[in-house]
Amino acid sequence: MSKSISVHGLIKDAGGASRIVNKRRESYASASSVPDPKDHIRELADALHPAKMTFKVTDIREASPTSRTFRFESGDGHIPVFQCGQYVNIRLKIGQSVLSRPYSISSAPYEARGENPFFEITVRRNVPYLVPDYLFENVHVGDVLEGSLPFGNFYWEPMRDSKEIVALAGGSGITPFMSMAKEVAHGKMQGCKLTILYGSVKANDIVLKDELDAISAECPDVKVVHVLSDEPDWEGEKGFISKDIIAKYSGEDTTYMFCGPRAMFQFVEKALKELNVPGRRFRHDVVNNPGDISKMPGYPAGTEEKTFKITVVRGIHEDVIDAAARETVAVAIERAGIAIDTHCHNGECGMCRSHLLSGDVYVPESNDGRRMMDKEMGWIHPCSSWPLSDLKIKIPIM
Ligand code: FES
Repeated sequence: MSKSISVHGLIKDAGGASRIVNKRRESYASASSVPDPKDHIRELADALHPAKMTFKVTDIREASPTSRTFRFESGDGHIPVFQCGQYVNIRLKIGQSVLSRPYSISSAPYEARGENPFFEITVRRNVPYLVPDYLFENVHVGDVLEGSLPFGNFYWEPMRDSKEIVALAGGSGITPFMSMAKEVAHGKMQGCKLTILYGSVKANDIVLKDELDAISAECPDVKVVHVLSDEPDWEGEKGFISKDIIAKYSGEDTTYMFCGPRAMFQFVEKALKELNVPGRRFRHDVVNNPGDISKMPGYPAGTEEKTFKITVVRGIHEDVIDAAARETVAVAIERAGIAIDTHCHNGECGMCRSHLLSGDVYVPESNDGRRMMDKEMGWIHPCSSWPLSDLKIKIPIM
């Protein structure tokens, strides 16, 4: 009995498949030769999972002499669910450029629920960059901004991570741990104990110091240890977040989470190796792109001062833009006022995945988040690719 059913099923399947093939052939034969500028599948996906949200600025306050916290309420009715450690990508039109930059959410998930839901980002302006400068100078309470939904893989996961957490932070890398500290203090992280080792140069550089210290004073499950590298009169920990300091504040079974500058990541990673911390106990946020690409291993000497032409293909449109060798392909595209879908801006998420049709790029190993097959088939992440020649690149239509 079962055999006859399976044979009958196979014949039915074969008949169905051949009808579909014939139908497709007819569709191809009768289709227009003019390309359809619309991507219908993408339109449907966008309707089901919107790629962007709008948010209204409701408060701006100082988080340090060089940092500000921006509070937002949703412009779309609700704030999507997020986890401590995730980020939103703020998108801004500055002059002719369309720029976007990721910022970790510094408020807690529980604050995005309840009667007056909000979320916050904390932005540091210690070097001249277009996006922080613009946020500080031009964004005011009442303004409405646009950005991505919360995104990112850097969060505590109860099935995988220990409840004893040591956070290793540097500079504005404190923001995901601010979110986590608030969540732990409100009993929302299943009995976790959080110790934050926060490295800064001087006391004035500490971002969100008052809020961190207030939580640390009130909640026995959150401890904040400031480690200062250039403050001779500091009475707390001094120097860098070394192997000895990490060991001093670690428990028997600790999960380490890192967010901070690229140089600090390398230092901390080495210290954890020396402490024989297994890889499964070390979680880190996206490693920032290198500041000076010409110093990276394997970068061809003398290329960094050149300028190249990039032909950017979007559907049936083609634009030719200039690109400095020192900037990523994504930054060159944004600077030219062409919108490109980005989230992490450091090579990890794959959101900007594009097809390199011709030319060469340099991709640092530390920021190469491509799958092996993508590398072989000529796909790149423009946010972590630097031009080495004139390029032709096909980017997704937004
Ligand atoms: S924006 Fe994440 S890989 Fe390019």
